[in-house]
Amino acid sequence: MPEMTWELFEEQVEACRLCSLCRGIQHKVPGQGDRRSPLMLIGEGPGQTEDEQGLAFVGAAGQLLTRMLQAIGLPRERVYICNVVKCRPPGNRVPTPEEAAACRIHLRNQTWLVRPKVIVLLGSTAAKALLDPEIRITRERGRWTERKGVWMMPTYHPSALLRDETKKPQAWEDMKSLREKLKELGLYRDLYEANEEQD
Ligand code: URA
Repeated sequence: MPEMTWELFEEQVEACRLCSLCRGIQHKVPGQGDRRSPLMLIGEGPGQTEDEQGLAFVGAAGQLLTRMLQAIGLPRERVYICNVVKCRPPGNRVPTPEEAAACRIHLRNQTWLVRPKVIVLLGSTAAKALLDPEIRITRERGRWTERKGVWMMPTYHPSALLRDETKKPQAWEDMKSLREKLKELGLYRDLYEANEEQD
């Protein structure tokens, strides 16, 4: 296998036909953000706005995510954001485990390229794909797991917060826990200071 590079990753995502999700989409949505960020956020899959623009988390859920990051002092530009699947599932349905598995190679390459120290799993599709296929997000959210030196935490998907506001206090607890983890690992100052400079 040739050595993975961002160029190769992008070419492979663009050319990918490993599952049928690519039929009928407008754009592939590989992910975007700071490719050297210590923090990676992984969602489920592109929605309509993301499919139209080819960018992850730019619709209503994405705007809420931006505000959640801002609330703990993190500028979104300093974070890398992507999804389990890179093509919009029809009608925004949940990707099947087979679709998530087919797309896994791209997520694996991307994670290898970014080399994050902390990964936040947004919603149960991401938590199932990366932590445990049987995971229950309501029970496991906010819990940290370390795998090969990378800290991972599942939390509610921002779309779930838009549908059910009563989940917001728990999501806020998780964001504060993320801030604490970044501080504990000595990563917060860099991310936060980048924010200060922008103000
Ligand atoms: N929901 C996701 O999981 N990802 C996006 O990019 C947008 C909405």
